Formats: sequence, structure tokens, C-alpha cells
Amino acid sequence: MKIQLIGLGNVGKNLLKLLSEEEEKLKDRGLDLRFVSISDSKGTAVNENGLKLSEVLKYKELEWHNCTYYFKGYSAIDAIKNISSDIVVELTPSTINGEPGLSHIKEAFTHKKHVVTANKGPLVVSFKKLKDMALENNLYFLYEATVAAHVPIFCLLSSCFITDEILKVEGIFNATTNFIICEMEQGFSFQEALDKAIKAGWAETNYADDVDGIDAARKVVILANTIYDSDFKLDDVKIEGIRNVEPLIMEAKKQGKRVKLLCEIAKEGSGNVFLQVSPKVISQDNPFSTVNYGDMAVKFYFKNSQEIFVSAKFVSPRQTAQAVLNDIIKVALNKKCQG
Ligand SMILES: NC(=O)c1ccc[n+]([C@@H]2O[C@H](COP(=O)([O-])OP(=O)(O)OC[C@H]3O[C@@H](n4cnc5c(N)ncnc54)[C@H](OP(=O)(O)O)[C@@H]3O)[C@@H](O)[C@H]2O)c1
Repeated sequence: MKIQLIGLGNVGKNLLKLLSEEEEKLKDRGLDLRFVSISDSKGTAVNENGLKLSEVLKYKELEWHNCTYYFKGYSAIDAIKNISSDIVVELTPSTINGEPGLSHIKEAFTHKKHVVTANKGPLVVSFKKLKDMALENNLYFLYEATVAAHVPIFCLLSSCFITDEILKVEGIFNATTNFIICEMEQGFSFQEALDKAIKAGWAETNYADDVDGIDAARKVVILANTIYDSDFKLDDVKIEGIRNVEPLIMEAKKQGKRVKLLCEIAKEGSGNVFLQVSPKVISQDNPFSTVNYGDMAVKFYFKNSQEIFVSAKFVSPRQTAQAVLNDIIKVALNKKCQG
């Protein structure tokens, strides 16, 4: 299986590390995953027989100095167009207009390549178009890591609950806000908790998307579109962030309760789908009250299977990379079955 990787940042590097570690296990399963090109923002490393991943990681640390197979200015789009492969793994930054990931994914589908991504941007901007392109070309489009990183959400829905009806979904999908709220519960002000989150690496200096609930709302859009095969946009989500959450936390604490920035997707009696991100007071016996700091969780309310709660500890680029690798393996195993 020939793979092209676009984006060699936190997640991309962890993906290569994981693959180097798991190479023998994958070979034992009959899986030969070969990276034929790896692109970053400045160029592309190419070896059509398969790049040596540990060597690529070393060269990336050295800014590709003396690397004979890295071509500066050779873009990811050129690589998708010109290099033969089966899967494009898209790991560039999530942006408001979806670029450059959106163009990469469209180009991949145009050249009949499967796509695995952790990048929310393109899915929020153009979910239906991308899904349709994948479907028309009979290609996989897997994006498990886009919502709650390594919490298994889409694989659970696609393999375990195919005929069951989803009545409601709740989730904690943003680690930065969860971290800040947990610190505020310990008595810190919003600003102090935010500073701690930045120092600990949970929040970026450009933290507005997180604290204003936008990042969580993007994940709501992707999940709702997947569940209801629809084309919701960010504007369809009712969003309230956590900048003014202090009084709610004080009130909740008096009652022995907690506050969480909860994502909600619910089908109303009228058939309309209600999408919301907002701080909610929850009691101690609510399973979300056990989701602390960098943890994430989801709860599905099914018509037949009833309530299913899944949580995962400490979201980090390594766990995100594992979710990306799981998607790659899923494509490889299915292709192998098809011969
Ligand atoms: N970090 C997590 O745990 C996590 C969790 C869930 C989802 N995600 C998503 O996963 C994606 C990757 O995250 P990350 O933390 O790895 O990001 P990152 O560290 O910022 O890395 C982004 C990579 O994309 C490359 N890039 C940027 N523009 C490009 C272009 N036009 N062509 C080719 N490559 C380009 C960058 O190149 P340079 O190296 O040259 O700058 C860099 O290697 C993001 O969409 C993020 O939202 C991340």
C-alpha cells in the first residue's frame, strides 16, 4: 500500500514514529505500508520504493539539510498529481477556509486516492462535497481523529450501531476548555487558568477558537453531518464559550456539582436537528463529571442500545497519530480483503 503524507508536524511526526515502532507487527499481519512521499510547507521528500521513516524524521529535525531526496518547492499538490499512490494522509493545520487541506483532499479524490485525515478545516467547510466525491469514486474518506482525537466515535458508529437510531449525542470535545474549567474549579480565575493552560501547552497563544467554543462547534458539525448525512455549517450551531463561566462554576460548587463545556446534537420531535455548545452544570453521578483536564468523552443515546459512554485519557499528538494509523490500517485491510 503506497501512502503519501502531507504535513509533518506534531501528528505527522508521531505517525512516523508509531509506524517505525510497529513495522514488524504490521508485516506479520501482511501489511506493507510504504510512504512514497512526505510533504511539509516547503517541499516534498520522495522515494517511490518507500522512504526510510526514521531517516526522514532525522532530516526534518535538520531542516532537510543535505537530504538528497527532499525537493524544495515541490508542493503537496504536485506530489498528489505526479506520484503513484493508494492513500493520501492529510495532516496540515485546521483553518477557517479549510485550506490548504481542502485542495489536497479534492486533488486526492480526483486522482482516485483514498483519504485519511485529522484536519477538521476541510470537513467543516465542505463536508457534503468531499463525501460525495469519495462516494462517486468509490474511495475511503476516514477522519476518526477530527473529533475527540483517539476516542473511537466514527468506527463505533459505522461498525457497531448500523441500524440503531441515534436520538442524542453529548460530548466533551475540547481539551483546552476542559483544562481551564478544571483549574477554575480549584479556585483560579479565568485568566489565571488560561495562563496555566498556555504554559502547560494546552492552549495556544491564539486561544480564542477554543475558549469561545468554536473548535468544539466544528467537531459538532462534523459529527452531526456524519450521523445525519447532512451539510450543517458552523452557523447552524448555537455556541456559548467559557469566558464568563466563573459565576456558574461558583454556583455549581455550592451544590456539589461540576461545570463542563458540553457539545450536544439532538433530533427534535419536529425532525429538526439541534446543535449546541455551551457550559452546563452536571451532577457528580453524570459520567462526564469524571472527564478531567485533557480527557475527552462522548455519550450516545440510541433508540435500542440505549446509553453508550466512551471516554479517553489525555489527548496528545501520539494518541491522535494512533487514530490516524487505525484509519490507514482499516483502508489497507479492506483493500487486502478485496484482493
Ligand atoms: N495535535 C493534536 O493532537 C491534534 C488532535 C486532533 C486533530 N489534530 C489536527 O491534525 C492536524 C495536524 O496537527 P499538528 O498538531 O500536527 O499540526 P502542526 O504541528 O502545525 O503541523 C502541520 C504540518 O503541516 C505542514 N503544512 C502546512 N501547510 C502546508 C502545505 N501547504 N503543504 C504541505 N504541508 C503543509 C507544516 O509544514 P512545516 O513543518 O513546514 O511548517 C507542518 O509540518 C491539524 O489539522 C490539527 O487540527 C491535531
